[in-house]
Amino acid sequence: MKRNVVSRKYRKIKFSFVADIKDVKGRDVAAVSISSKKDSEVIILSTGQKSIILGAGKRNEMTGRKLVMISRQIISLAKQHKIKKLAINFPDVVFPHLKMKGSEIAEVLAVNFEMANFEFIEYKTPPEQGWGFIEEVTIVSDDRSVKKGCGKGQAIGEGVNESRVLANTPGGVMTPGKLALKAKAAAKKTSVKVKILGRKEINKLKMGGMLGVSSGSKEEPRFIILEYSGAGKEKPVVLIGKGVTFDSGGLSLKPADSMQGMHTDMSGGAAVLSTIIMAAKLKLKKNIVGLIPAVENMPSGTSYRPGDILTTMSGKTIEVLNTDAEGRIILADALTYAKRYNPKLVVDIATLTGAAMIALGQRASAVFTRDDKLEKLVRDLGEESGDYVWPLPLWDEYEEDIKGTFGDIANTGKSRYGGAITAAIFLYQFAKEYPWVHIDIAPRMTAVEGELLAKGSSGAPVRLLIKMLENI
Ligand code: BES
Ligand code: MN
Ligand code: ZN
Repeated sequence: MKRNVVSRKYRKIKFSFVADIKDVKGRDVAAVSISSKKDSEVIILSTGQKSIILGAGKRNEMTGRKLVMISRQIISLAKQHKIKKLAINFPDVVFPHLKMKGSEIAEVLAVNFEMANFEFIEYKTPPEQGWGFIEEVTIVSDDRSVKKGCGKGQAIGEGVNESRVLANTPGGVMTPGKLALKAKAAAKKTSVKVKILGRKEINKLKMGGMLGVSSGSKEEPRFIILEYSGAGKEKPVVLIGKGVTFDSGGLSLKPADSMQGMHTDMSGGAAVLSTIIMAAKLKLKKNIVGLIPAVENMPSGTSYRPGDILTTMSGKTIEVLNTDAEGRIILADALTYAKRYNPKLVVDIATLTGAAMIALGQRASAVFTRDDKLEKLVRDLGEESGDYVWPLPLWDEYEEDIKGTFGDIANTGKSRYGGAITAAIFLYQFAKEYPWVHIDIAPRMTAVEGELLAKGSSGAPVRLLIKMLENI
């Protein structure tokens, strides 16, 4: 039998730098040029070399958003034409009116090359001719800052793709216990400290939300704690990521169609994990804590029920009206746990509501905060990073919608309207003691057609989180 030597793991691109276009060697290297036409083409030169001519439209109409897409188009075209090696003349992608530094352009390029090149292949038989990934990119530039930007971009791209692997892994494999092991393994070669709490410790902390949601599953819950210190005694930023490894809806069972993709309901947790590991690798001068409440939401004879009243770690009780609104229940305990760090800021990331998708489509995550300055910052950084976000209100008036009848707070709103907002205002009840931002990433959970990313997890909002950590 032929031994299978083709790996089933995505491998990152090998970048190299040369000072002059003439130094690019090898007939199998395709030169990329940027044209001001609308359409792109791949031509074969008389030398037999392939050349990618990327139609980027008028140079003075280039935008930051277009630059993201052009980077991905280069990779996508190359893959379609079975090209494995590319060369790009860096000055061709410098657009002075964008007022971006060389290092920033190089970062965008590298991040998006990695993101567009990635595919989740771990469960696929390798094709005879091997995977069609881009293997090498040569950048023509003698600017050291370009090389640096590229390195950083690649590290971020790698973080995004690691998050995608975690999120794409089937629910039967990526259980709460497995996610915890992945956190330990990822932190191993870094200075990130990992603590894993099991059911016993969760019980001791009186995290009734975690216990309630996980009660229907044979998979034990985990509360994953990651700590990175890069700034001595400074207050930390706490990142909280929803870690529902499979969301069946529980006894309020989802219809079959809606259950599709619900192994990706730990995308927030995956993003938090990948971001902290990356922050450590980039040696960010910040203190960062990651909290990932990880559970499986299942229907069974031991499940929590509609009508159950759960006492959370905060002491507040939650009246369960729908077991499918589980994310907010486990996040309530995590938001309470965050208090012990006296945080400078808490950011929670969650695939929380289908309603956020109804409101925004699949192009932007919903952002909620009481702090106007933070809202503006997160929006700007979203724009810069490519992880776009858009605000929705978090007004006192909405608190009325989630008042409990027999418990303090109901886990769903009184009407079917404004579901993303009622979920956010629910979380706010547990986050009143520190500056807080909630990002509902349900809209960005899976990549959409046209954004030139492989099917499955989009890796949002890892790019945004790293920028937030740098700027807060
Ligand atoms: N994980 C889902 C939200 C979701 C839906 C994420 C679709 C990504 C794609 C969440 O736990 C959920 O089920 N929310 C319910 C809340 C409802 C019961 C109040 C929803 O959005 O329908
Ligand atoms: Mn749910
Ligand atoms: Zn969920």
